[in-house]
Amino acid sequence: MLRIGMLTSGGDCQALNAAMRGVVKGICSKRKDVEIYGFKDGYKGLIYANFEMLTSKDFSGILTRGGTILGTSRQPFKLMRVPDENGLDKVAAMKHTYHKLSLDCLVILGGNGTHKTANMLREEGLNIITLPKTIDNDLWGTDMTFGFQSAVDIATDTIDRIHTTATSHSRVFIIEVMGHKVGHVTLHAGIAGGADIILLPEIPYDINVIADVIHKRTEAGKPFTILAVAEGAISKEDAKLKKKEYKEKLEKRKYPSIAYELAEQIQKKTDKEVRITVPGHTQRGGSPCPYDRVFSTRVGAAAAQLILDEDYGYMIAMRNGETVKVPLQDVAGKLKYVDPKCSLIKEAKLTGISFGDEL
Ligand code: F6P
Repeated sequence: MLRIGMLTSGGDCQALNAAMRGVVKGICSKRKDVEIYGFKDGYKGLIYANFEMLTSKDFSGILTRGGTILGTSRQPFKLMRVPDENGLDKVAAMKHTYHKLSLDCLVILGGNGTHKTANMLREEGLNIITLPKTIDNDLWGTDMTFGFQSAVDIATDTIDRIHTTATSHSRVFIIEVMGHKVGHVTLHAGIAGGADIILLPEIPYDINVIADVIHKRTEAGKPFTILAVAEGAISKEDAKLKKKEYKEKLEKRKYPSIAYELAEQIQKKTDKEVRITVPGHTQRGGSPCPYDRVFSTRVGAAAAQLILDEDYGYMIAMRNGETVKVPLQDVAGKLKYVDPKCSLIKEAKLTGISFGDEL
């Protein structure tokens, strides 16, 4: 009997179900003696042994369904080794559940935080395979994560729709895009949506440069400007602060997010009407785009092959169009940032997009 535990952890995204379907279809095409334990709401399910027995039928018809049939939650890594109010040692509890159910392996779908915990469980002797999930595309070791392309599609659609109204009213429009500490979604959606200014956490901006770009556009007969800003974008001034100082500054910030701070500054410096659009969690919602359906099916099937081969301790990644296995210890705790010197940025700049850093 092959006993597989499965869980989805962290923020959800499109194609989680499609990826799990890929794993199960892959395994069940070769083995009939399979038990699938679906842990509910991420690591919580493993800690409290809250699971459901699933069959291959449960994974039929979910290729296009967004969200996760298992539910998910965020369990901060730093709290994993801190006993809860009942003195529960969460790591020991997860190990206990795994051994009590005599699992052969755990398939974990998640992003950065999830991978830290997954690697810790590997170090504790559990057989782990992970799949790269996040709209942010910030997982080290893989060219792409599933959810990313779907989020880019949605953010692009938002920017597309802003174009006509921005033009009619000669306004400045700020679209705030998700991505946590990295700018992959904003960069791609910004270019695809024809944004005039793109602000990323990896390229600190100067508000005076932004105001100048807006003035120059007006002088050139383009009285509207579309600015795509990553939720984690940072000014040149703030980038000089120590991490702790910046964190404190953010906590005291009177604005709900970066878009609101920028809007006030731009309004003051340009006298233009500014409007804000925050697509927020719509970027993680709905059906996965075709690319993500194919991608997640492929990494799911590649994970199935590793399980059939009893080859554990890896994340399935996509590199140069091929699925590859990357040791979990190499992935855990590392973020993949946008490289400010990459050719994509250079090409975008050449087409006239400003990144708010230079004129
Ligand atoms: O990591 C995915 C992500 O959508 C980030 O882009 C965003 O910062 C964060 O999750 C939002 O998290 P939550 O759903 O917990 O508000």
